[in-house]
Amino acid sequence: MELNKQNYKPIVFSGVQPSGVLHLGNYLGALEQWVQMQDKYNCIFCVVDYHAITVKQEPKELGRRILDVVKIYLAAGINPAKAVIFQQSNITAHTELAWILNCAVARLADMNKMTQFKEKGGEKESVSVGLYDYPVLMAADILLYNTDAVPVGDDQVQHVELARTLAQRFNREYGQVFKVPEVAVRKQGARIMGLDDPSKKMSKSANSAANYIALTDAPEVAAKKIRRAVTDSGSEIKYDVKNKPAIANLMTIYSLLTGLGFKELEKKYQGKGPAYAEASVGKYGEFKKDLAEAVKKFLIKFQLKYHSYSGDEVKRILKDGARQVRPVAEETLKKVKEKLGIN
Ligand code: TYM
Repeated sequence: MELNKQNYKPIVFSGVQPSGVLHLGNYLGALEQWVQMQDKYNCIFCVVDYHAITVKQEPKELGRRILDVVKIYLAAGINPAKAVIFQQSNITAHTELAWILNCAVARLADMNKMTQFKEKGGEKESVSVGLYDYPVLMAADILLYNTDAVPVGDDQVQHVELARTLAQRFNREYGQVFKVPEVAVRKQGARIMGLDDPSKKMSKSANSAANYIALTDAPEVAAKKIRRAVTDSGSEIKYDVKNKPAIANLMTIYSLLTGLGFKELEKKYQGKGPAYAEASVGKYGEFKKDLAEAVKKFLIKFQLKYHSYSGDEVKRILKDGARQVRPVAEETLKKVKEKLGIN
C-alpha cells in the first residue's frame, strides 16, 4: 500500500513489542482486529522495538524477534499490499517526538496514574526510566501519523487515553497540530485471560508457559495446555464471567476461533458434563477436547504460513514500510518543532 493523500481513508495505527512470545491473546485482542480493518482503512502496523528495550533484551535474540513479529503479522493475514508494516527504530521521529512530548506536555501526575507501570514493578530499583516513560513513546507513535483509530486490547486503553490527553494539551498550549485518536477495542477478545489463572490476563511475561498459548507452540503442546487449563466448579458450559470466569474465557477463545456464539456453545454442550468426562481432562472433558482440536487446527494453518516467509522477504517489507511512513512522520515532527520555535 502507498499512503495516499488523494485517496483518503481514516488512518489506523497499532503495534506489538518484539519481546517474549506472542500469544493467542495478542492475536484475538489485536491482530485479528487489524486484519479486519486493513480493507477499510489506511493501516500502519509497527514493530515497536524501542518499547521492547524498556526491559532487558538479549541482543542476539532481539534482531530475530523483530523479524518473527513481522512473520506473525503476515501469518495473521496482514497484507503488505494493503497495510504498511515498519520497524519503530527505523524512523527517528518517534524518539524525537517522545522527547518533545516529555518536555512540553507529559506530566509526572499523568505518568503516575499508569496502572501497567505499577503492575510491572514500579517500586523495583532495577526498573528503567524508559519503562516509566513508555506511554509517552507510545503517544508519539500514534500522533506522528494523524491516526484516527488505535486497535488494541484492553490493557492498552489507558495508554491510548494518555495519547489523547497529550494531543489535546499540545494543541491547546502550542496550536493545532495533532489529530486526537480514538481507541478501538473489540467487544469480545479484548482481554483473554491466563489458562492457569482466569483472574490474570494472558501475558508474554507470565512466569509459567501454562498461562498462554504461544502462536508458535507446537499444536499438540497447545492442545495439552487447553486440556489442562484451570476450570471452575460445577460442570455446566455457561457464559458467566462473574461466577465462571475460567469457562467464560475458554468460551471466548472457542467462539472467536470457530465463529460459534455463546448460546450455540451452551446448547452444544448442554448435559455433556460429568457423564462424558475423561479422567485426564476432568468434568468439562468434551468441551475442552473440542476446544483443544479447534486451537490445534488454527495453529497448524497459522504456522504453515508463518514458516513460509524468508528473512530477506521480511527485511524488504520493513524497508518498504519505512520508506512509506517516513515522510508522514517527518512532516508532523516539522510542524511540532515550528510550534515550539526550534525548527
Ligand atoms: P503488547 O506488545 O504488549 O501487545 C500487543 C497487543 O496485544 C494486546 N494484548 C491482549 N489482548 C487481549 N488479551 C490479552 N491477554 C492481551 N495481551 C496483549 C495488547 O493490548 C496490544 O494491543 N504498548 C503496546 C505496543 C505499542 C502500541 C503503540 C500499540 C507501542 N506503541 C502504538 C498501539 C499504538 C504493547 O506493549 O503491546
